[in-house]
Amino acid sequence: MRIDKFLSNLKFGSRKEVHELVKKGYITVNGVVISDFGLDISPALDQIIVGEETVYYQPSITLMMNKPKGVVSANTDLLDKTVIDLIEIPFARFDFNIAGRLDKDTEGLLILTTDGSMLHQIISPSKEVYKTYLVELRDPLTRTEELENGVVIKDGKNMDFTTKPCFIKQINEKVATIKILEGKFHQVKRMFEAIENEVVALKRIAIGELPLDDNLLPGEVKELSQVDILNIFR
Ligand code: URA
Repeated sequence: MRIDKFLSNLKFGSRKEVHELVKKGYITVNGVVISDFGLDISPALDQIIVGEETVYYQPSITLMMNKPKGVVSANTDLLDKTVIDLIEIPFARFDFNIAGRLDKDTEGLLILTTDGSMLHQIISPSKEVYKTYLVELRDPLTRTEELENGVVIKDGKNMDFTTKPCFIKQINEKVATIKILEGKFHQVKRMFEAIENEVVALKRIAIGELPLDDNLLPGEVKELSQVDILNIFR
């Protein structure tokens, strides 16, 4: 692929701006300053440095984020900081899809991927990827069987929706984990509302068999390995 197209795709600027970088001698390929902005490069093999930055490239990237409370799961937002705003270089050079949004006041495991088919596999209920949440409730937990068997909630379009069977583990009087298949708008909050309780704190702690990495501080990301990705679908 042409180096100007490659770097422009990675948000180093328009093709014209990349041409300027080449003219200024800011770009090296395998240690050699280049002067040809149409140079054919192999992203997987060549080491490309722009200014001080060694260009990082993978054909497909999937990240885990420990989403903090207070940021929105969106690519852009006029008012609020988004999860995309939290991603730094080198990953900020890629375009990510959010695989299963979390509410602004929800924290925990968020997966972001450049891979459209993986996105679909994670969020499609037919793929049977369970999402596990840690919930803190206003009132002591009761009526768990009702919740596990399925309750009627409103979905994002305000239509009645019966939740699929789910699994609940009580941790203490007001704290539990809930494992659900679907990802309807405010689903966990609405499920507990359906049994006349209220979620006061919500954290996603696993997607499939992939747990949130405890070492990730709120707002931090890490790239998932192939093994991690297999664990999502295990
Ligand atoms: N269910 C909710 O109610 N909110 C979330 O952020 C995720 C699941």
